[in-house]
Amino acid sequence: MEAEARHKPDVLRQYEGAGIVVHWEPSLCIHVANCIRALPGVFDPNARPWVRVDAAGAEEIAAAIRTCPTGALRYERTGGPPQETPDVPSTVQPRPNGPLFVRGDIEVINARGEIIRRATRVAFCRCGHSSNKPYCDLSHRAVGFQAD
Ligand code: SF4
Ligand code: FES
Repeated sequence: MEAEARHKPDVLRQYEGAGIVVHWEPSLCIHVANCIRALPGVFDPNARPWVRVDAAGAEEIAAAIRTCPTGALRYERTGGPPQETPDVPSTVQPRPNGPLFVRGDIEVINARGEIIRRATRVAFCRCGHSSNKPYCDLSHRAVGFQAD
């Protein structure tokens, strides 16, 4: 996975299976590994492709993806089942010496007032050092960011 991410971090990857299409945005992935812990048979950083959509049912995969705090992983259900719904209420969770994990009905707006992202899960940089602002890119670790 990290090799794929380094290769072309801005390219959105798509993996199509029965009843689900998985989208992965490498530039947002900070390797929290929630997906791998949730469903190691599907999300395997040592395999190519690293997402094996045929290795579990669509709902299991969707549930694992909803644990991704950054929104690097998203999905579309195909064939009729409901899509992901935003958490209600929305939540903001400051991670220890790390980003703000936000979940809910999120619109990210740039300085010109334009919506640049709609999402249900985003990890916002809190340290000020990300090269991918406003999103976290793990730079907080390299700079030894202390929140307090
Ligand atoms: S849970 Fe999301 S951020 Fe973490 S490794 Fe998986 S895709 Fe990347
Ligand atoms: S909080 Fe992660 S890069 Fe700033």
